[in-house]
Amino acid sequence: MRARSIEDLQKAIVFAREKNIPYFILGGGSNTLVPDEGFLGLVIKIEHTGLEVVDKDGYTQVIISAGEVWDEFVSKMVDFGFCGLENLSSVPGTVGGAIVQNIGAYGVEMGDCVAWVEVFNTETMTIEKFSQKECSFGYRESIFKKKNALVVVRVAFELTCSKSPRIEYEEVKSSLREKENFTPTLLDVRNAIISIRAAKLPAIHIGTAGSFFKNPIISDDRCYEIKKKFPDIKKYPLPENKTKLSAAWLIENVGGFKGIRRGDAGVYDKHALILVNYGNASAKDILSLASEMKDVIKRKTGIVLEEEVVMMQ
Ligand code: EPU
Repeated sequence: MRARSIEDLQKAIVFAREKNIPYFILGGGSNTLVPDEGFLGLVIKIEHTGLEVVDKDGYTQVIISAGEVWDEFVSKMVDFGFCGLENLSSVPGTVGGAIVQNIGAYGVEMGDCVAWVEVFNTETMTIEKFSQKECSFGYRESIFKKKNALVVVRVAFELTCSKSPRIEYEEVKSSLREKENFTPTLLDVRNAIISIRAAKLPAIHIGTAGSFFKNPIISDDRCYEIKKKFPDIKKYPLPENKTKLSAAWLIENVGGFKGIRRGDAGVYDKHALILVNYGNASAKDILSLASEMKDVIKRKTGIVLEEEVVMMQ
């Protein structure tokens, strides 16, 4: 069922409860794997739209509904000259999905720009507002991912006209450095990111859910041990004696999976973190490949890769 308003959403939940069937809240579906047997219940697709711009002192608050397409929203913000979200250009899906997953790319996490999130609580059947702190944003995490009863309906972003874009991510920097002596505009950054992603991520007609696994976060001590065995391992320092490892590096260099195929299920040849369906792979084929990859990485490094993709169940 398509929920084009909060009333639609409310009605759908009541309907599912009356019929005693489970329901699944769907955004754009770009990070979701549907089981081969389908979903025996009600899928509620969040489609309500709306955008409001409120001027505050020194910054702009943009309030956007969960059913809006994420990249169309980012494109509008860049056109308006509002800085903050341009690095998240070209990420597929809806605003609601972006919040639940706390999407992040090229040095920016979406949660950093959030002022508040409005949800429909399906337990109390009321609207509630969460401050940025209450959202408990983390790496591909939020309170909304943990508590299914909270359905995101609206989000307020705090954006600014004065800040310069974030271009410290190596690939973004080098892509922009090709043009000498110029200060990149928001549109330059957006265009650079669109081309970086286009070169590494599968075209729209290839079935994929983007990064299949998260980058594992481990203690510095554990990383030190692993590095003895894999000196070239790609890693990023984090606060509190933690290190984030590149799952793509592990999959390519430890597992040797980059570009391989098991029937129509495969590991994308331009980015090892991405599983693709080259035609008729079933969900079972994708999961079996993912499980083979996890087993090998675990056996060789002790690290258990965790799925970023969400199973519809
Ligand atoms: N790398 C490899 N092999 C590959 C690809 C990458 O070894 O096939 C290594 C390289 O050393 C590279 C490093 O991994 O420098 C990082 O690669 P990349 O910049 O593509 O980032 P990522 O950590 O693999 C994450 C996000 C992406 C996001 C990029 C860019 C996760 C799970 N994925 O990937 O998000 O676009 O950073 O910031 O955090 C998504 O979530 O669906 C997604 C595409």
